[in-house]
Amino acid sequence: MKKSIFAAAAMLGALAMVATGCAGGGAPGAGGNGGGSDLITVGFAQTGSESGWRAANTESMKKAFSEENGFKLTFNAADNKQEAQISAVRNFINQGVDAIVIAPITVDGWDDVLKEAKDAGIPVILEDRTVSASDDLYASWVGLDFEQEGRTAGEWVKENFDGKGANLVVLEGTTGSSAALDRATGFDEAIKGTDVKVMDSQTGDFTRDGGKKVMEGYLQKYGKDINVLFAHNDDMGLGALDAIKAAGLTPGKDIQIVTIDAVKDGMTALANGEFNFIVECNPLLGEKAAALVKDVVDGKTVEKRTIVEDQSFTQEQAAEVLDSRPY
Ligand code: AHR
Repeated sequence: MKKSIFAAAAMLGALAMVATGCAGGGAPGAGGNGGGSDLITVGFAQTGSESGWRAANTESMKKAFSEENGFKLTFNAADNKQEAQISAVRNFINQGVDAIVIAPITVDGWDDVLKEAKDAGIPVILEDRTVSASDDLYASWVGLDFEQEGRTAGEWVKENFDGKGANLVVLEGTTGSSAALDRATGFDEAIKGTDVKVMDSQTGDFTRDGGKKVMEGYLQKYGKDINVLFAHNDDMGLGALDAIKAAGLTPGKDIQIVTIDAVKDGMTALANGEFNFIVECNPLLGEKAAALVKDVVDGKTVEKRTIVEDQSFTQEQAAEVLDSRPY
């Protein structure tokens, strides 16, 4: 069992507690979870399975944290419920894993449990989304620049609709998630000063069903007045396609659609002309997260933040790259 410097510190703490007769949390790796083997035990607290992006991210993480690569992974998906995710992290702490990886559902609410992990000497690596807690409560974060993704989407809207008095509706991601908050900030900044009017903005929780339901409501309320839709992810945009078609309108023409993610189904809709522009959000974070965990457990110094680059796609570009996309 490899021991990190965090683990060593916790071990010293645990020995001190035993010496003074106090009960305390077990040192990482001492909880019977893979003890005696050379594998690094990792608990991964995933958000849930809300989207195609999430499925690709989970697959990338499971592949990178395989036994062949030196890990013993315990996976938990929290069904997009913050309380369930925090309780999964507490379970990992109680099991005494060597490291914990979290894709935090929301930005807030992490201070206590991150402190508990730190006190137990278990390093935490964040992947995908960020938290508002102090950055000395986790070892590192690897993810995407969500604000830039939103800005790129907004710049496309500005370029194509400024000066036309266009009406826009927004399908927001999970309320309180860094992905939704930062994308909204970047997008709003990019369309500021244009004559694009944001008629409505509601959450579809990053799901197809959510996107469909909210879009149905928009269509009932605003009908043909809607010119553009900005969906914070492909899945909500794909759900909205059903609603738009059911209302007798042509997606990509009557209502132009810009989304974020660039997963297979989204790129197919773009190549088919039903979406108009997609900003990529790369879900393949597994290898980078696994390398960070290894380094942290080995006591090496790591970067606090690692940003993975994204691209963007027009309809023509989507048609060109569709077959070669890995997810
Ligand atoms: O945090 C990344 C976002 O989460 C993706 O854009 C979305 O599809 C996912 O659910």
